[in-house]
Amino acid sequence: MLILSVETSCDETAISLVEATGEFPHATYEIHGNALWSQIDIHREYGGVFPALAKREHVLTIVPMLENAIKESGLEPNDYSPELTEQQEEEIRTLLSRERELADALLTFHREHGAFSVDLIAVTSGPGLEPALWVGVNFAKALALLWNTPIVPVNHMEGHVLSSVFDIERDDMLSDISFPTISLLISGGHTELILMRDWGQYEKIGQTRDDAVGEAYDKVARLLGLQYPGGPEIAKRAEVARKAKLPEFAKLPSPMLNSGDLDFSFSGLKTAVRYAVQDKELTETDREAIARDFEDAVTAVLVKKSIAAVEQYGAQTLIVGGGVSANQHLKRMFEAAFLTEHPDVTVYFPQPKLSTDNSIMIALAGHARAGNAFAPRGADVIRADGNRSLS
Ligand code: KG4
Ligand code: ZN
Repeated sequence: MLILSVETSCDETAISLVEATGEFPHATYEIHGNALWSQIDIHREYGGVFPALAKREHVLTIVPMLENAIKESGLEPNDYSPELTEQQEEEIRTLLSRERELADALLTFHREHGAFSVDLIAVTSGPGLEPALWVGVNFAKALALLWNTPIVPVNHMEGHVLSSVFDIERDDMLSDISFPTISLLISGGHTELILMRDWGQYEKIGQTRDDAVGEAYDKVARLLGLQYPGGPEIAKRAEVARKAKLPEFAKLPSPMLNSGDLDFSFSGLKTAVRYAVQDKELTETDREAIARDFEDAVTAVLVKKSIAAVEQYGAQTLIVGGGVSANQHLKRMFEAAFLTEHPDVTVYFPQPKLSTDNSIMIALAGHARAGNAFAPRGADVIRADGNRSLS
């Protein structure tokens, strides 16, 4: 099954062509094309992602990404692509009436290249920034019509879960995990613990009461005068502080460490950093020390609650996913803690290139949900949903 996947939930415009051989979850996945455009440089100037700006960038770059993914894959157009009738063109223009430049670009692409044969189009329908999501959803619907291909809406967070167990280095398969499994999802918009009793079954057992971890990283970075996205900037400095064994800059709380439940809270930690740095001229060394203090506070609470969740549900597996799972210190601390306390539990982190947003994960989730695909003419019901939940 050849899957074309589309991801536009935040500040990455990504399209992949992935071939799945076999049935989910025992399939082998071959990546034929993978095109990703990061808007980070544009948003950096503003210190965060602006939905309207993100939408505009997706509109401008999604057809070039389609072109790149197809070129990389070597896929040839099929030879039964008749010219579009006026009525078909009208249909595409109506579908993309809010993204007129995108309609022009897609119709030009179609005129120049014709249609391609893929078996499924998978598109992120949420969660994420709604204006950004709509670009991907409407684009995917239009492509489904042009290419006469079934289309399936995908949950972005299910993509993160699957990409964490996708062994892209070794055998291109999903790891053979045992259930129950606990997933810790940590990204710019999410911090949640999920119980999985089987593939595709999600029950939320804990979540943040305020900021997401990635959001806390981004906000603390801003307090320290570091650029967006804050995660990598803080992680880099925290590593320097650890190597240099810098003394503690501030005593920071690990909020809700002992709350006895599986919930999180990070806004108090961010406020503690604000108080620690206010009215101070920070040196680079100060920044490194605070970054480390902050990261240690975050790590302690993520590790402790994950262990509590694993114990509470007798889980065999822990999956950590979402952009913050790119953090190598976090990965080392999780591995060390589980080795000591639960050597029987297998801990999965994504390969670095699959940790932040990408479209390969959307292809994996699309394959998992292929049975829910809509015929191109029945795709009207697919809607972007910024708050789409996993369970
Ligand atoms: O999953 P993702 O790419 O986008 C969302 O779905 O939100 O996650 C982005 C988040 C940002 O908040 C970013 O600062 C954080 O992941 N992040 C990191 C690291 N790399 C990205 N946080 C900590 N350490 C990192 N190395
Ligand atoms: Zn994400």
